[in-house]
Amino acid sequence: MLQHDSSQRRTFAVGAPIARVLDVRYRQFGITQLAAQGIEHRCSGALNATGHRFQHGDPMMSSRVIRLGVNIDHVATVRNARGGRYPSPLRAARLAEKAGADGITAHLREDRRHISDSDVSALMNHLSVPLNLEIAMTPEMQRIAVHHAPHAVCIVPERREERTTEAGLDVLNHEAALRVFIPPLLEAGCRVSLFVGADPEQIDAAVRVGAAVVELHTGSYCDAWHDGRQADCRAELVRLTRAAAHAEAVGLEVHAGHGLTYETVQPIAQLPQIAELNIGHFLVGESIFVGFAAAIRRMNELIEDTTTVVEDA
Ligand code: PXP
Repeated sequence: MLQHDSSQRRTFAVGAPIARVLDVRYRQFGITQLAAQGIEHRCSGALNATGHRFQHGDPMMSSRVIRLGVNIDHVATVRNARGGRYPSPLRAARLAEKAGADGITAHLREDRRHISDSDVSALMNHLSVPLNLEIAMTPEMQRIAVHHAPHAVCIVPERREERTTEAGLDVLNHEAALRVFIPPLLEAGCRVSLFVGADPEQIDAAVRVGAAVVELHTGSYCDAWHDGRQADCRAELVRLTRAAAHAEAVGLEVHAGHGLTYETVQPIAQLPQIAELNIGHFLVGESIFVGFAAAIRRMNELIEDTTTVVEDA
């Protein structure tokens, strides 16, 4: 059953109407039935004054329940479409900071299809919130990450022909390589995160190779939601729910991201273990209609308003 301690519950009036509309859709998808299946899917822990989310000692920790990392890759995609200088990813990142982003995420791909080396330098030099640099497991990327020593490095799989990062890292099959790849990043002072699917075996392997964080890939869940594949969507949420609980139980901080939108963010934000969400493509797209700052603010309202959805269930 969902459990709430009303004395410790925070409510966020500002996003409530949006949340109630979404709750109707969540019910259609059977998402609130997760609790009835006996799967831990509650939010009261996240709101507890003792704050179990704050036990990891992350220097990025603020009084926020869940940090929002804004991914600015696709600002660079638009810039690169013309090979020019605008829109500037740095300008977008600074606007995101002002609009409430707790961190900025950028993926320096091997083919430099969006973020460039000079973007990384500019972000390192001018951001006042932490940078989470996503990289593939290559010697070149390791060198760049060690040189810049950003707050966090998230290791992701990369295939040149893919449109985006389609799956999680196969930690199990790259254990030996990761044991060599990660230590220089740790020595440089980076917090190392692995982008993984919702698979307990991959999560256990992440612990063995020395990662402090796993970021759970939410792409399949989001695809199922937006395609209206309700059973798949529920199944993916169940996997993510179990994976998040497992990751925390084995001592990892839990992040999530990929494909998240206003509609899909709340069931993920409800997972009590989630400390950080990384969201990019949707926010950059939505900014065409409402502006980047407004899109970020609304996303934050929805993340913070998660309690209302659970309470209504
Ligand atoms: N997290 C990771 C590890 C990613 O690779 C990406 C995409 O670059 C994201 C989060 C953000 O995904 P999206 O742009 O779909 O919000």
